[in-house]
Amino acid sequence: MRELAELSRLCADLARSDLSPEILERMISEFAGHGLSSDLARKLFSLILEEGERIRGRGASESGLKLREFASRALELQRMGREIFRLELGEPDFTAPSSAVEAACKAIREGYSKYGPANGIKELRASIASKLSEKFKLDLKPDNVAITAGGTFGVYGSIEAATELGDEVIVIEPAWPLYAHQIRWLGRRPRIIRTRFEDDWDPVSMIQDEISRMTRLIILNYPNNPTGKVLDEKSMRAIIELAEDHGAWIMSDEVYMDFCYRDGFKSILELGAERAIMVNSFSKTWGMTGFRVGYVVSDAEMVARVARAQNTAITCIPEFVQRAALAALNDEEAARRNIELIGARLKILYEELSRSRLIEVKPPEGAMYIFPRINVENFDSWRFAWKLLEEKGVAIAPGACFGQSYNNHIRISAVLDEKPLREACRRIREAVEEYS
Ligand SMILES: Cc1ncc(COP(=O)(O)O)c(C=O)c1O
Repeated sequence: MRELAELSRLCADLARSDLSPEILERMISEFAGHGLSSDLARKLFSLILEEGERIRGRGASESGLKLREFASRALELQRMGREIFRLELGEPDFTAPSSAVEAACKAIREGYSKYGPANGIKELRASIASKLSEKFKLDLKPDNVAITAGGTFGVYGSIEAATELGDEVIVIEPAWPLYAHQIRWLGRRPRIIRTRFEDDWDPVSMIQDEISRMTRLIILNYPNNPTGKVLDEKSMRAIIELAEDHGAWIMSDEVYMDFCYRDGFKSILELGAERAIMVNSFSKTWGMTGFRVGYVVSDAEMVARVARAQNTAITCIPEFVQRAALAALNDEEAARRNIELIGARLKILYEELSRSRLIEVKPPEGAMYIFPRINVENFDSWRFAWKLLEEKGVAIAPGACFGQSYNNHIRISAVLDEKPLREACRRIREAVEEYS
């Protein structure tokens, strides 16, 4: 009892302090002194973290939920008959290629509608392994690939597989909001790095400053959502070196890999990193968001761990969906069309938004987005987004969704055709002028 009281006091002290990387080590050693396992120390550390986050009100993916609410309002206005330009979501407007639709229907008719292996059907894993091997001159085997429920579960399963409770995961902001949310959900700890527009979103020196013995994983996402940045090879190599020096894994979320509009992009798979996981998806390249299919690529052991997490959560991905993905993978023509389309629209967005003296835009490099800075004093991205929607009928994603430091940015998705896109940009320029 007395020991329990002592430990409770220690935990209460810790909860009040700033939870620095050394704290977990102190807990582990104090717990060991009482004959208690490091696992228990990690679990308690994680509970304390979670409670701290809850108290500070950052527990849930608040921004993600707010964006959904915002998108629902845009849809509601649309259903009421108003013309609404929907540019707020990261969802392509093109649908799945007919090759994939046919393959799904055929597979259902042929009875491919039973439980399957947790890591995916061999045909699809083999096909992904062979395509990537050919592209990057590697020798990947089917066991280096697991099919996941979209990139979303690829990310989730990788965080679970590569880290333990209480471990620190580096997230580079501005970022897809689910990274930090999933990390917290899993009882890990996001270490947020806030890159800056004026530094061209360069993360390297910031990672150097923030990485520590506690860092178990670094999440990269290039081409990036929301900035569209493509990180150069030298920077990627510098990050790999930092990760290796600290024994950390890298998870490279490459769901926008095909939407790359400048030279020099290198997948993490090409750079010979020892502890690397690549996450990819069929959602973007082939417009298959609702199919929920993606994949991870890594060493066979890590891939098996991700598959185990998926087995625990959802058993497997429906086989007819995987057969549709296989058809899409072989439909290079559909992919090429979609990639060209998004590239052309990004150019239009850049050209149109650059016309405002109050909107600062970088030339688009990749992904499906443009993330301009709005040079208006006291700009509030949420307030602007609501005004723009209600008054001008244009929906965009507020910069604050991607990190608290980006409240003077907006994200615009390249998901409309040229004419409506130009009109939406004209209204955005007008709204910014009025806001100022
Ligand atoms: C950066 C990033 N990663 C992963 C995903 C997940 O996509 P999905 O689960 O549809 O493959 C998204 C979706 O918007 C994304 O933007």
